[in-house]
Amino acid sequence: MADNELFPVAADWAKRAWVDAGKYKAMYEQSVQDPSAFWGEQGKRVDWIKPYSQVKDVSFDKADLHIRWFADGVLNVSANCIDRHLPKRASQTAIIWEGDDPSKAESITYQQLHDEVCRMANVMKAKGVKKGDRVTIYLPMIPAAAYAMLACARIGAVHSVVFGGFSPDSLANRIQDCDSQFLITADEGLRGGRGVPLKANADAALKTCPNVKTVLVVKHTGGRIEMAAGRDVWLHDEAAKVPATCAPEPMNAEDPLFILYTSGSTGKPKGVLHTSGGYLVFASMTHQYVFDYHDGDIYWCTADVGWVTGHSYILYGPLANGATTLMFEGVPNYPDASRFWQVIDKHKVNIFYTAPTAIRALMREGEAPVKKTSRASLRLLGSVGEPINPEAWLWYHRVIGDGRCPIVDTWWQTETGGILITPLPGAIDQKPGSATLPFFGVKPELVDGEGKVLDGATEGNLCISDSWPGQMRTVYGDHQRFIDTYFSTFPGKYFTGDGCRRDADGYYWITGRVDDVINVSGHRMGTAEVESALVAHPKVAEAAVVGYPHNIKGQGIYAYVTLKTGIQATEELRKELVQHVRTLIGPIASPDLIQWAPGLPKTRSGKIMRRILRKIAENEHSALGDTSTLADPSVVDDLVNNRMNRG
Ligand code: WTA
Repeated sequence: MADNELFPVAADWAKRAWVDAGKYKAMYEQSVQDPSAFWGEQGKRVDWIKPYSQVKDVSFDKADLHIRWFADGVLNVSANCIDRHLPKRASQTAIIWEGDDPSKAESITYQQLHDEVCRMANVMKAKGVKKGDRVTIYLPMIPAAAYAMLACARIGAVHSVVFGGFSPDSLANRIQDCDSQFLITADEGLRGGRGVPLKANADAALKTCPNVKTVLVVKHTGGRIEMAAGRDVWLHDEAAKVPATCAPEPMNAEDPLFILYTSGSTGKPKGVLHTSGGYLVFASMTHQYVFDYHDGDIYWCTADVGWVTGHSYILYGPLANGATTLMFEGVPNYPDASRFWQVIDKHKVNIFYTAPTAIRALMREGEAPVKKTSRASLRLLGSVGEPINPEAWLWYHRVIGDGRCPIVDTWWQTETGGILITPLPGAIDQKPGSATLPFFGVKPELVDGEGKVLDGATEGNLCISDSWPGQMRTVYGDHQRFIDTYFSTFPGKYFTGDGCRRDADGYYWITGRVDDVINVSGHRMGTAEVESALVAHPKVAEAAVVGYPHNIKGQGIYAYVTLKTGIQATEELRKELVQHVRTLIGPIASPDLIQWAPGLPKTRSGKIMRRILRKIAENEHSALGDTSTLADPSVVDDLVNNRMNRG
């Protein structure tokens, strides 16, 4: 794809958008030259109980690493997302909920949202949850998930949302890591017409979580579940006993708002910690400008609240802006491949934000399922989670948007809290496949392996050289790991883990992860996590996992497995191992391909050479590079000869 294929900002967009090209340049300049003045002004977009007098207090220096924004300000995030809108928007829809079953939908006004959140907050208080306590939320995509998150924010509890697709083991690890003593779950989830046994999973997880005192259960499908006496209570029973008002807890700007676990290149998932003030300012501002949100717009982000995209762009950003945000329980292909577009027509969606993997999967179904819908309400399209290939971008633009909707390809991470590199639809010409230019206050840098900053058109490791208010503050319970993971590879800078190219126009093109993280259908997965699940199987001696290019998922999971001596490599065992990983982590971690490996390529000091395994999985045998440092070079021939056909 040529770097110069431009989709220029349309004249009407430049006119009506919050930001046009001139304003972008001026604001960006100010934001990086005088961040304190810029953010000091922007911080006023939220309501403060006690205004801040300090704005930025940051050091990226390893010896004294700290990140504080608006540090002496006091606010409440839930009051900002609800109460402050009530005078004007009490009867405006805050959340449109679209069920998995197309006949089920609900509209929740800001007043109703207030009442439900207050009730849930009061239930939590009555059960002893206090400011600073961690609360784990394991819910499907139903309004109660939003109530639960906002109820935590209201009373100052720190939520940790665990994606409903994670296994009991994964849930248990996350509950234990932050010592959460209160769990909110539902009887069952529903996806594509099939039940997800959330409560049963929670019961299994809690066998190893003795500290959990209370489980609050939302009745959703009405499926049969067990209720443990003295521990489990129904939300509807408890909510009936408490009032629908609850005073929001005054919170310091740097008090924690949530923990969200995410995969890294080593060890177990880490608890990314976000705080209150800076996060909300950044989520709100990016939501307004990137999606060019105006009053009355219907906005739909298809993510799950179990991921950061759901936190920032289903919940906090939109609600802080008094928006109408759509929450979808289902999947893109149920009942059929037209579902997304039918939902857009049904609720007159203006702004639609989804992931490349969904676009690619729907692209495969052809244009007919799209073209039988109108989509006339659509004005803007967005993409997130992984690089979008130009073919998918062009299809999204031409077929979904009928050629009239700009696409914002938004690059960011769990750690960044909000969008960092993206076009603004009224200001920045788009190039298919490029996330284009930095958002206000964001200073990207490309550095080489030694940390030397590279200028001009180039390719390197993507770092951010200064802080922005939405940045994570620490790894929960392990500040040293925060420093080691993000600020040690290239001292003085935040290292993203992504590779990136910058073209002659200064546009950024994310090339993918440069660490041992793979991105499967927009979900982050540490190869080490999948490996440790595989070696936990009694028949497995050793395993190495790498990503490989996958037409729909972006990357697939390719596992090399060495069996213990005397174990037969059979098709059955292959299936058993896939099932084993699903049980231990969850279906999103299922290996796509398992290759039996009599040996793994190792250096003489015993280090697995993943570079070689990656090349074999990518089918680039000719580019294996130097294999002379291997302890036993012949293992490579065996792996090449027996590589799995990835079709
Ligand atoms: C990748 C999701 C290219 C990237 C918000 C990043 C992207 C990781 C894009 C973070 C994009 C996300 N273009 N790559 N527009 N958006 N990524 O933490 O590799 O689940 O580091 O956050 O996804 O994934 P996470």
